[in-house]
Amino acid sequence: MAEADERNIRTLSLGRTTPQPNTLVIFGAAGDLTRRKLLPAVWNLKLDGLLPENFAVVGFTRRDWDDQTFREGAREAVAKYSRRKVDAGKWPEFEKGLFHSKGAFDDPAAYAELKRKLDEIDRERGIPGNRVYYLSIPPSTIATCVEELQRAGLVESLEPDRPFTRIIVEKPIGHDLESARRINDDVARVFDERQVFRIDHYLGKETVQSILVLRFANSIFEPLWNQKYIDHVQITVSEEEGVGTRAGYYEEAGALRDMVQNHILQLLCLTAMEPPWSMSADVVRDQKMGVLNCLRTIPADEVDKHVVRAQYGPGKHGGNEVPGYRREDRVKSDSTTETYVAIKAWIDNWRWAGVPFYLRTGKALPQRASEIAIQFKPVPSILFNAEPNGALEPNVLVLRIQPDEGLSLQIATKAPGPRVRISPVQMDFQYGEAFRDESPEAYERLLLDVMAGDATLFMRRDAVEASWAWVTGILDAWKQGGARWLPEYAAGSWGPVEADRMIQNDGRRWREL
Ligand code: BG6
Repeated sequence: MAEADERNIRTLSLGRTTPQPNTLVIFGAAGDLTRRKLLPAVWNLKLDGLLPENFAVVGFTRRDWDDQTFREGAREAVAKYSRRKVDAGKWPEFEKGLFHSKGAFDDPAAYAELKRKLDEIDRERGIPGNRVYYLSIPPSTIATCVEELQRAGLVESLEPDRPFTRIIVEKPIGHDLESARRINDDVARVFDERQVFRIDHYLGKETVQSILVLRFANSIFEPLWNQKYIDHVQITVSEEEGVGTRAGYYEEAGALRDMVQNHILQLLCLTAMEPPWSMSADVVRDQKMGVLNCLRTIPADEVDKHVVRAQYGPGKHGGNEVPGYRREDRVKSDSTTETYVAIKAWIDNWRWAGVPFYLRTGKALPQRASEIAIQFKPVPSILFNAEPNGALEPNVLVLRIQPDEGLSLQIATKAPGPRVRISPVQMDFQYGEAFRDESPEAYERLLLDVMAGDATLFMRRDAVEASWAWVTGILDAWKQGGARWLPEYAAGSWGPVEADRMIQNDGRRWREL
């Protein structure tokens, strides 16, 4: 595929606003997310000249650090995790905008000190009091943190002439519907919904954003995007890594909560939603809600038929032995936490009636690969498709989210030669080949959007709760069932036979990735 021609690229403003001067305060700044994602994201935004000129980052932690220690830690984190490394010429100026504020989440004095520090930074760096609070903290501490922020006078109202206060809430937002509602209520006691940005980093991925462009900036797909032409959809998010060092969190979560409730249902929404009539945040989010509202609840007594959960057992990966999940560090030896889940879902609306959506995700699978595959209906069984023993391969449109970002369309073509031999071939497009620019990381785009006040790529409260409602139905059925063990799949394999059977019973098969 040839490189894209710069002269033909259209830049649309679509109501985008520019990021305003602000201070980003990270609660839980000693954590992994800050080092691996947030600081590298801010650094890359700086290198791209996208940060507002008057900008600062304050890391709030319990550690006995001063500004200098935080700056050194940030430099190490950027050196290790950023897509673009430390640039010795630009770093010193960037570093001057990094600060540390020490304290515990429940200590009012720590918030008073934070306020003092923020006011000083505002004065020194010409920031008009705008603040973005990033909560990278355990869900159980959110209520205290937001209350203390308010009590310390660190939350502005939405009055037009006041500086802005925005809050970013990280997942997990709860572990079921009830706890998610509680967290949302806690946040809502202090912040207006328009100030709340619930992050799902999948929405910041370039290829995820391009789903809407593919669907609605091309005239050839949308007419076919419905039950008349589509046989089924497969959404796969496979991970090569096992649970790694995150067992403490994962034991309580499992694949359904960790990946389906948020990332996979968001991919489903973007694939299945009706065309929004504008890109304004609420129009897009209303259309996504339209999908969640039509997602068929799986009755408790049918969960086993439509949902397969499993755990990885011992296996081999890249030549190395992988212990089974139950033998991983900090995992209970009788754990029933699922590391794999496959679901057959239905969207009961006009567009999707009768089209199953097969969703699957798991850890310790053969490779890291996420994709959405739209499989079209077969051509009639006459002419080229008349052979009873050799049905033609169907057309499949695959949107590759990661890695190897791009899309491919499988079509049938005639193999050269005197006989009629029909072969599937792939028309393939890769972002890396067509565009020279490297894609930004999800967190870069998302942080920028918060600074600009654009909530399009963030989860609205109703969507979080609708997703939880659907997932909680499955969790409740599992709880009632009280399984003492789960089906196993060998680490490094494509999941349990039960998942193969589920799709094979419908006369279909999982795609090989
Ligand atoms: C996170 C999950 O939300 O997404 C992790 O908690 C998972 O368990 C990760 O590994 C996957 O994200 P990505 O961007 O690497 O596909």
